[in-house]
Amino acid sequence: MSEKIKFTIDGKECYAEPGQNVLDAAADNGVYIPSLCHVRGLIPAGSCRICNVKIAGRNMTACTTPVEEGMEIENDTAELQDMRKAIVEMLFVEGNHFCPACEKSGNCELQALAYRFQMMVPRFPYEFPLRKPDSTAPKLWIERNRCIKCKRCVRSIKTADGKNIFAFRKRGHEVEIQIDHELAAQMTDEEAKKAADICPVGSILYKEKGFSEPIGTRKFDKNAIGSDIEKVV
Ligand code: SF4
Ligand code: FES
Repeated sequence: MSEKIKFTIDGKECYAEPGQNVLDAAADNGVYIPSLCHVRGLIPAGSCRICNVKIAGRNMTACTTPVEEGMEIENDTAELQDMRKAIVEMLFVEGNHFCPACEKSGNCELQALAYRFQMMVPRFPYEFPLRKPDSTAPKLWIERNRCIKCKRCVRSIKTADGKNIFAFRKRGHEVEIQIDHELAAQMTDEEAKKAADICPVGSILYKEKGFSEPIGTRKFDKNAIGSDIEKVV
């Protein structure tokens, strides 16, 4: 068995496998670091920046930073929590997130983080962009108004021969999620459900199943985000 790496988070002694990133290692030690774009097992994208921690005085994304021996990590500080809250607020104002009418309400990681950070009125002005949904795929509905550009779908949903079913098109502020209509037409129910599940918000929805589980009984309705982190090392 490989030697464990010893490090600390907010002074707490923790252990990691060699090569493990700070975010996964923290979770294995029972420490929650908020994240949105990261999915364990996928190559980290480092795109949402919610998982920012402080290491040796520098802000680093926990999902893209490998743990090193003796590393001292700051996680639960007022400065970092406010930075994360600001990112959540930015995501809310740059899209159109009307939680009460969203099929993913109660299962949405962005909404759950807004609750966690006790977001009330965002400090930034709403942009109310015009974005067209795409309901062409037989089993999926793409609601671009809610997309937070985490690329979780792009990185994880592929055909058996490795082709991407999702991709980004356009550039910069205009970037938007696109589904390959030919490939989407061949998706099985399981593949379509997997795509809907990997999306942290209500941007990829499995058609005809939006309200099968009533709001109020869903994942983050029952337990706050981060409350399921358990120490495993
Ligand atoms: S559709 Fe969902 S999973 Fe894909 S980039 Fe947008 S928010 Fe992320
Ligand atoms: S979870 Fe680390 S940058 Fe998104």
